[in-house]
Amino acid sequence: MMAASASATSVLSARELTRHYAVSRGLFKPHAMVQALNGVSFELQAGKTLAVVGESGCGKSTLARALTLIEQPSSGSLQIAGQEVTGANKAQRKQLRRDVQMVFQNPYASLNPRQKIGDQLAEPLLINTPLSSLERRERVQAMMQQVGLRPEHYQRYPHMFSGGQRQRVALARAMMLNPKVLVADEPTSALDVSIQAQVLNLFMDLQEQFNTAYVFISHNLSVVRHVADEVLVMYLGRPVEMGAKDLIYRRPMHPYTQALLSATPTLHPDPSKPKIKIVGELPNPLAPPSGCAFHQRCPFATERCSVELPQLRLLDARQVACHHAERING
Ligand SMILES: Nc1ncnc2c1ncn2[C@@H]1O[C@H](COP(=O)(O)OP(=O)(O)OP(=O)(O)O)[C@@H](O)[C@H]1O
Ligand SMILES: [Mg+2]
Repeated sequence: MMAASASATSVLSARELTRHYAVSRGLFKPHAMVQALNGVSFELQAGKTLAVVGESGCGKSTLARALTLIEQPSSGSLQIAGQEVTGANKAQRKQLRRDVQMVFQNPYASLNPRQKIGDQLAEPLLINTPLSSLERRERVQAMMQQVGLRPEHYQRYPHMFSGGQRQRVALARAMMLNPKVLVADEPTSALDVSIQAQVLNLFMDLQEQFNTAYVFISHNLSVVRHVADEVLVMYLGRPVEMGAKDLIYRRPMHPYTQALLSATPTLHPDPSKPKIKIVGELPNPLAPPSGCAFHQRCPFATERCSVELPQLRLLDARQVACHHAERING
């Protein structure tokens, strides 16, 4: 009964989410398949943040699109607040879309350049609530204040804002209908470092206030350390390690996580921790290596790693997909 009670309290529950894309290789050639996302499972509670990390092309945005119902998974299942997404009817899907909002790396692309910010923020209320125009305006102004925008910003157009302010606008719009889940895909990567910290703090303030669950995608492990409760590390579409942030940062067990973390600058480097460098290039996703996708770049790989795909398994209170996790971390 453990599983049932765990999912009852989860606002977001993913099981074996998988997304493959058919890619054309030219006329008369058969399509190739990119396994952009393979077997991702997790549970996320209200008010908590799951951070998703990994190199470019590992499937982070593909996961984000599946979680926000922008794209259908090829297989696997997704529950939002206990409601199964596959098989939901039109009205249910509409509600589910309200429950999961998204913030992108480039907020300018998601804003209408010809519409005043205040009106853009009021739009979700206009579509989804019976509020009067005066009530909508009040709600928008309250939200603008919460995200650190001033009342006079209501009348301004997107181009009149700085990058940091635009991300505040995007966040305000995502939070307008008080979603259960917010998926943020590299939301601070395009910002100056000084502005990044302010926007991250805003993310965290809003989470505390609204008890929203966050899926926070970032390749920046310093940022993730700041915001995450749980960390999911992906490599070439597959989860390789997942667990509580403190545990993963203190004692990463997958060689790939270890390599990512040793490439991250810290204030107090621990000389007892091995420095691991990732060698070689990310493999071609159209022709992924057999066995463990990381084996060609892994300093600990053996024959077994090149033939047998390691499954996620529980080890030292986290999940790790490595045949040699004990030996490496012994
Ligand atoms: N619509 C699509 N058609 C074909 N292949 C796709 C499509 N979308 C993504 N892919 C492929 O799926 C893989 C995962 O892409 P994805 O955008 O999810 O990576 P990412 O982790 O978000 O990378 P980045 O850090 O660069 O944003 C890549 O190999 C990508 O080329
Ligand atoms: Mg991406």
